[in-house]
Amino acid sequence: MSALLEVRDLRVSYGHVEAVRGVSFSVSAGEIVALIGPNGAGKSSTLNAIGGLLRPASGSVLLEGRELAGLPSHAVVAAGVILVPEGRAILQRMTVLENLVVGAEARPWPGGRDEARAAVEAQVKRFPSLQRRLEQPAGALSGGEQQMLAIARGVLARPRILLLDEPSMGLAPLLVRQIFEIVQEIHREGTTILLVEQNARMALQTAQEAYVLERGEVALHGPAAQLAQDPRLQAAYLGGDVA
Ligand SMILES: Nc1ncnc2c1ncn2[C@@H]1O[C@H](COP(=O)(O)OP(=O)(O)OP(=O)(O)O)[C@@H](O)[C@H]1O
Ligand SMILES: [Mg+2]
Repeated sequence: MSALLEVRDLRVSYGHVEAVRGVSFSVSAGEIVALIGPNGAGKSSTLNAIGGLLRPASGSVLLEGRELAGLPSHAVVAAGVILVPEGRAILQRMTVLENLVVGAEARPWPGGRDEARAAVEAQVKRFPSLQRRLEQPAGALSGGEQQMLAIARGVLARPRILLLDEPSMGLAPLLVRQIFEIVQEIHREGTTILLVEQNARMALQTAQEAYVLERGEVALHGPAAQLAQDPRLQAAYLGGDVA
């Protein structure tokens, strides 16, 4: 299977801090690939460089062979690479519905306005807690609801690949499970996903392939089910009682 997204020798620096030091991986169409690793490993820096929020120092980000590295974020979005950043970056003062509409307007719909409207309605149905709050400011939602809104908004941009940065961060265990179920549902509907998570256990249960980042480098990679059994990972990330 040829890769939908291929990242080659990616490097990201903040001044003298080398956050990402030659990371390579690929995501096939239809897959969920997880990027796991401890705080400060370079997960968000990698995702933000792919999403065009950061300009990589060097390396390649190829979407079906087309180079995206260094393009501004609007061009990356137009190509279909949609990032849901860490910390639920929703538009706090806009209503829930306005946030969804902004998501749906990120990329054109082949079926025009009618198709966009139907897609917004489908997302509203998927998240009943949003349905009750469509006219409220998004900033008034709970943390879990804001994360759901951020994911719904990302899906409405019709991603070729959806980049999710720590969707379960800071959520209670029940909500963490709900979020991972939603990620799987979106995947079943045909969306390719690159999932960054600190919750290694849940990420490995959800993904097909996984890469472990440590200090800006890929320390381990392989099928997620296999990594979940790897003694090195067990000791480092799976030992404690993760949610
Ligand atoms: N804006 C910035 N300026 C300077 N250094 C930064 C900046 N953002 C991140 N870093 C540094 O880059 C390294 C990688 O950070 P990054 O946020 O990519 O890690 P992460 O794996 O996403 O961590 P976390 O799990 O905490 O989200 C860290 O050493 C961090 O301190
Ligand atoms: Mg991060």
